Parts: sequence; C-alpha cells; structure tokens
Amino acid sequence: MKLNLQRRKASPHAFAILFCLAVLTALPAGAQTDADQLALGKKLFMQGAVPACSACHTLKDAGANGAIGPVLDELKPDAQRIAKALRNGIGQMPSYAGSLSEAQILALAQYVSRASSAAN
Ligand code: HEC
Repeated sequence: MKLNLQRRKASPHAFAILFCLAVLTALPAGAQTDADQLALGKKLFMQGAVPACSACHTLKDAGANGAIGPVLDELKPDAQRIAKALRNGIGQMPSYAGSLSEAQILALAQYVSRASSAAN
C-alpha cells in the first residue's frame, strides 16, 4: 500500500521527464519549432528552391502564380505526397533530392500542405 502511494506520487514527474526527453529527441537538429518550419517552407517555396516552386505553381499564401504545374490551392496535396514529388520529381517537375536537404524537403511539405488546405 505504501509503495503504491509513493508510485502514484512519483509518476507524474516521471511522465513529465519522459515527455520532455521524447520531445527533445523528436526535434530535428537545430531544434526547430513548428512556426520556424513553416516559415522556412514558405521561404523555400518563394525563392530558396532552385528552380523556384513559384515559377511553376500557383499558391495563394506564397503570392505565387506560376502556370506550368497544378494549382496547389486546388490540388491540396498532403505532406507525404509533396515530399514524394520533391524527392523523386514528377512529370516535368525536377527532383530536388540533390539540391534540398531532407529537413528542407520536410519543411516545404509541411508548409505547402497547410497553406494549400487553408485556402478557399
Ligand atoms: C519546372 C516547373 C516546376 C517547378 C519548378 C516545380 N514544379 Fe511541382 N509540378 C510541376 C508539374 C508540371 C507537375 C505535374 C506533374 C505531373 O503530374 O505530371 C508538378 C506537380 C507537383 C505536385 C503534385 C505532385 C503529385 O503527386 O501530383 C506538388 C505537390 C508540387 N509539384 C510541388 C512543388 C514544389 C513544392 C516545388 C518547389 C520545390 C515545385 N513543385 C517545383 C512543375 C514544377
């Protein structure tokens, strides 16, 4: 009985510590927050990626009105689909695997999926 009580007292702290450790280890190097990642994705979309996404795609949130690829506000691709297109290329769109880091690809995928589903 005594042991049980002590365990109950100790467990919230243990959970808090484990939770912090889990969050810290889950964060990529550079410890980016969600907002940082979205800001990076937007920057890459507008001008950081070469060739620029905005040259070929329309995405209202980024002020992009390219007309070669699909309108992302209408396609509303999820993050996985975007990351796949960036890694492998698709149709006339080149692969960015050689020019963007994995962290940059994930930031773009997060940003485009959120920005495109937020529109309309
Ligand atoms: C040279 C023009 C061009 C550039 C630059 C370009 N794209 Fe594309 N993109 C296309 C075309 C064309 C398609 C349609 C390909 C197809 O379906 O055959 C496409 C398709 C896509 C798709 C849909 C993939 C799918 O599964 O249907 C996404 C998402 C996408 N592009 C995101 C991006 C992002 C993000 C960037 C910048 C890193 C980018 N594109 C740069 C031309 C481009």
